[in-house]
Amino acid sequence: MRIQTIAMASVLMMAACTPKLGKNDVSKVVAAMTTEEKVRTVVGTFHDLATPPPVAPGVNNRADYPGSGENTAVSRNQVPGAAGDGYDVPRLGIPAVVYADGPAGLRIDPRREGVEKTFFCTAFPTGTLLSSAWDTQTVEEVGKAIGDEVHRYGVDILLAPGLNLQRNPLTGRNFEYYSEDPLVSGLTAAAYVRGVQSQGVGTSVKHFAANNQELYRNGINEIISQRALRELYLRGFEIAVKGSDPWTVMSSYNKINGTYASENEWLLTTVLRDEWGYDGFVMTDWFGADDPVLQMKAGNDLLMPGTPNQIDELLAAVESGLLPVEVLDRNVERILKVLERTPRVKGFAYADDPDLEAHAAVSRKIATEGMVLLHNNGALPLSSGKKVALFGNYGYDTQPGGSGSGYVNRAYKVTLDQGLEAAGYTLDQNLSKAYREHIAYEKSQMPAEYFWVVPTASEYQVSEAQVKGASEADLAIVTIGRMSGEGGDRSASEGDYLLSAQERLLLKQVYKTFHSNGKPVVVVLNVGAPIDLSGVEDLSDAILLAWLPGQEAGHAITDILSGAVNPSGKLPVTLAGKYEDVPSSRNFGVSEGEINTVRYEEDLMVGYRHFTTTGKKALYPFGFGLSYTQFTYSDFSLEGDSLVVTVTNSGKAAGREVVQFYVNKPALTEGRPVRELCAYAKTGVLAPGESTVLTVPIKGVVNPLEQWADDKWVLAGGTYTFWAAASSEDLRLSTQAQF
Ligand code: BGC
Repeated sequence: MRIQTIAMASVLMMAACTPKLGKNDVSKVVAAMTTEEKVRTVVGTFHDLATPPPVAPGVNNRADYPGSGENTAVSRNQVPGAAGDGYDVPRLGIPAVVYADGPAGLRIDPRREGVEKTFFCTAFPTGTLLSSAWDTQTVEEVGKAIGDEVHRYGVDILLAPGLNLQRNPLTGRNFEYYSEDPLVSGLTAAAYVRGVQSQGVGTSVKHFAANNQELYRNGINEIISQRALRELYLRGFEIAVKGSDPWTVMSSYNKINGTYASENEWLLTTVLRDEWGYDGFVMTDWFGADDPVLQMKAGNDLLMPGTPNQIDELLAAVESGLLPVEVLDRNVERILKVLERTPRVKGFAYADDPDLEAHAAVSRKIATEGMVLLHNNGALPLSSGKKVALFGNYGYDTQPGGSGSGYVNRAYKVTLDQGLEAAGYTLDQNLSKAYREHIAYEKSQMPAEYFWVVPTASEYQVSEAQVKGASEADLAIVTIGRMSGEGGDRSASEGDYLLSAQERLLLKQVYKTFHSNGKPVVVVLNVGAPIDLSGVEDLSDAILLAWLPGQEAGHAITDILSGAVNPSGKLPVTLAGKYEDVPSSRNFGVSEGEINTVRYEEDLMVGYRHFTTTGKKALYPFGFGLSYTQFTYSDFSLEGDSLVVTVTNSGKAAGREVVQFYVNKPALTEGRPVRELCAYAKTGVLAPGESTVLTVPIKGVVNPLEQWADDKWVLAGGTYTFWAAASSEDLRLSTQAQF
């Protein structure tokens, strides 16, 4: 009896002495872990639903080998549809944390077997639309709403935002990313992260770095100069890391100058931690790269989604001394320091109860802030009560977002026809009926929509008689759309980057018929990334680039068409027109004569940097966007570290203006762009005649006046010219300074 009591007491004492995550110092928790517990902490619990991405030809990739199976950890699957889970060690208070995608909202399964309740999330506009708003405050609001859903649905870390640079318009995932410019990308991402994390959950800034194409993404070797890496491909991450302290960073699949990002010590330790001071943890992209020991050593702390093979290899490597225990401890400690902050460790009892209605309003608002009016000869805004002939499938099957991991399981989507009708416009019913029936029939023959595949019907062929019949309406709206997504890039062919012959014919027919009756034609683009719009202005009176605007698409587009909201979005990416004019077009996918290598020969000349420097005309330049009013700029100066300019609404409607500041720096190396964005700001709503003074600091967490030369950041001595501009080609005022 006495012996039993003593034994019981010592068990209790041991339990009391066992450190617990969230209660004791992390180093104590690590010290109390067995080697196996440590190894399992750096490897996620495999999800059998996840499929590894195809690797580049001739590339060996072991991350997806099934392994012996002996070490298969059971995923807790606490939030069905989440992309991954961590390993739990209950005796140390380490829970299985839940990781789920982003970025356009949270992606989890909307339904659960045997459960009546639904688990829908809000589909917000995709990344490119968010950055087109040039409004970090509104983006932060979006982040807060997404973070709230993450929290309330029991997820700990959101796998977003995506901020790879939009190097080429054909990248399949461009819609998830922000811009061809690192400052816009970094500031937008930082605002998003601050918003999400304000809700007590984490983010994963991805894909670090240079994941600029889908072709052969798991193994493509990207040859990039140090200067282009620092000034373009790493710069957005640097701004986001320093400016918002993301809990985690996701390394990318690709190789950079011969080394996988997740095995790249220079990238993950020298740059990210030693130079930028990052103290969160790094996880791989799903099944990323090859060698778990190299990944651990490089500073890639967590392997996702985690395979039994990786556990086998790491255990053997610790045993043989190939993987020093100190390295494993360091990585475990970094992970636990972040997990300490998660809702699961804090014991948050989630109730699956986000306010989806309030978030839908946030989604609609930002959608209107980021749409870009490209052309308007006075056809817009539409007055109320008009009769509209709505052409094009995407008018009836408007797409909120792209496919792949960035898809969101929303409760509904508002299509453009619904949005127009809800705002009191009438549609030509014969035409609408024909489109709706065609789409419904074709879709009934296709597999149901799910995140990986979003089926769309083939474009309905309207007859000349139908166009004629519909021309009794007051105006025509022609919608043109494109779907794209993770796993593949787009092509520079007809029906993708180029308009299809059928789309051109439709535009011509509609324009001819409506114009002969003196009626306007408005084009609405429901696309995630640029297409070649050459000639479209000649066949239309207005062009609205609506991007992929989230689940409130139809309402938000109508808000702009009707003038309920004055458009204020501007392009975060150049619309080049001809694909051959895109500087990376010669080196996209794979470089000529190579199997799995792409050489970034354009170096710094990405997007507007190329067009402004060579003087080549883009169809719509970076930073361009029209409004229903006009703005004049005056009194531009550099005061201390800030650029100051007065903006006046000199037109007839209330509206907001995005002002961009470009700089010409004294060049320390050959091949520098003639001007680069160094700051920007958006005014509040200005009434006609109203002025405001914008005072915009140039230096933030980085100094955009510096350039990469001699292997370091340098502020060159000499004359700097600054411009206050309405776009990269519309320079309004300038001033100079000596540094
Ligand atoms: C994507 C990531 C995503 C992950 C988890 C990968 O295929 O590249 O962006 O977060 O899957 O779903």
